[in-house]
Parts: sequence; structure tokens; C-alpha cells
Amino acid sequence: MALVNAKEMLTKAKQGHYAVGQFNINNLEWTKAILLTAQELNSPVILGVSEGAGKYMCGYKTVVGMVNGMLEELNITVPVALHLDHGSYEGAKACIEAGFSSVMFDGSHYPIEENIEKTKELVAICKERGLSIEAEVGSIGGEEDGVIGAGECADPQECKQIADLGVTMLAAGIGNIHGKYPENWAGLSFETLDAIQQLTGEMPLVLHGGTGIPADMIKKAITLGVSKINVNTECQLAFQAATREYIEAGKDLQGKGFDPRKLLAPGFEAIKATVKEKMELFGSVGKA
Ligand code: 13P
Repeated sequence: MALVNAKEMLTKAKQGHYAVGQFNINNLEWTKAILLTAQELNSPVILGVSEGAGKYMCGYKTVVGMVNGMLEELNITVPVALHLDHGSYEGAKACIEAGFSSVMFDGSHYPIEENIEKTKELVAICKERGLSIEAEVGSIGGEEDGVIGAGECADPQECKQIADLGVTMLAAGIGNIHGKYPENWAGLSFETLDAIQQLTGEMPLVLHGGTGIPADMIKKAITLGVSKINVNTECQLAFQAATREYIEAGKDLQGKGFDPRKLLAPGFEAIKATVKEKMELFGSVGKA
């Protein structure tokens, strides 16, 4: 099945009270692990690509080529969206040209008027080309590709203003942060989420920083309108731990254990297990 935009899968998720996972990709192993797991579990999925990861993978066209090739060669039939994560205005335009099926424009660091202006322009381009578009209000804390945010709670009225521009899905800060949560993290602000959902109605809401949020908070967020949950760091940590175990056990020194196809296999399986666990928690299994 060819790439699809994220509109239909997220509308269904919002109506069905579950969430679709966005899993960020870094290379071939990541992409293959996520696609195969989605297929095995009959789940829709969104592949997230940050601008930094896009550069690392030799540019957006390479990413589009790799993903399209895999959809065909692996016989992937579940809905898959290829989505720019935290895109700049220029990055979003470049991904639209390169063949992504979805983009996020993160204008949360601009004054709200400028965020509205730029989001509006990109909404028009995405509509014309049949792409879905995610916007963000209220910066999401933690560090991502060197950009550090403080983890604020979005203003629900500003969320409504941006939602009314015709975006497909809306990311709003509700105390969530990227990366590992600190010991003294106050948790998600369900009060903010509730206020945002009341004003934005049908709009699928996006929860960034999915790594390390306790299962009960994830479930509650879904009941309050979250239909897309982004996970990145948790797959990286799973890959790292499995690779470390392989090396520490000296397996790379045995036989052909140095072969990258063997060396990277435990990490690949660890990503698959993480994605499976998240899809089960988010409730997207069997929803393709
Ligand atoms: P984590 O790295 O905390 O899982 O966050 C991912 C994310 O929100 C990508 O936009």
C-alpha cells in the first residue's frame, strides 16, 4: 500500500478512543522494525522524521525512497504515514516536495500571530497536495535535535485559533517533555488537556514526549482526546541496551558476530518489542 496522509487514521482513532503511535526513524533498521511490527499487529502507524534525522539519512528524498521501497518489498498493507517531526517552515516545504505524506510545522517558538500566519500558508499547500499537517502551540520541553524547550502548558484559546486554521492534528504542550522525565516531573496537566479538547472538539490531539509517561496517564490522555502519541527516545534506549548486552557478552567476537546484520539484530528486535508494547498500550492493534 502506498503512503497515506494521517487524516483518516487519526479521525478513526479519535472516534474509536485509541491513539496511533508516531515512531521516529533513524535508519533502515528502525524503519524496517517499525513497519514489520505494524504489519504483524495490523495497526496503522506514523513514521516520524526530525530534520536532524532527515539530514543523517542523507536527506528527505533518500527517506522517501527507502520507505516507499520497504512498503512494496515488505508487502506492507496497513496504513503508513511518513511525517516530518517538528519541522521548520522551510523544512516542511522541502518534505512536501520530496514526497512525505504528512508534515508538522512547529511554530510554537514564534509569537502566536506569526505561528498563525505561517501555519495558514502551509495548511493551504498541504490541502492542495493531499497531505496532513500538524501544528504546535506551547513549546514541548526537553531536548530534541539540540532545541531545548521548557515544557509549558499551551493556552487553550490559542489552540482553538490554530485548530480553526484547518490543521489535521494539533500538538499542545500539557507539561510533557521530550526524552527521559526527571524524578521531580509534575506529570501531565489533564486540566489543560481537557480545556483544549473542549474548545477544539473533533480535532485529534497529539501527545509528544511519549517516552516514560506512565501507562495510566497515557490512557487518561486518550480519554481526553489524544489520538496520536510520539515515541522516539524509548526505541533508542531499547536499541542501545540490547546492543550493549551483545557486545558485553562478547558475541561480536564469536564467529561472524561482527557482521552488521548480526551486530544490529538484537537492537532491531528490541525496537520491535518496544513498538509492540506501545501499540498495545495505545490501543491501535487490529485497527488498520
Ligand atoms: P520522546 O523522545 O520523549 O519519546 O519524544 C518523541 C517526540 O515527541 C517526537 O516528536
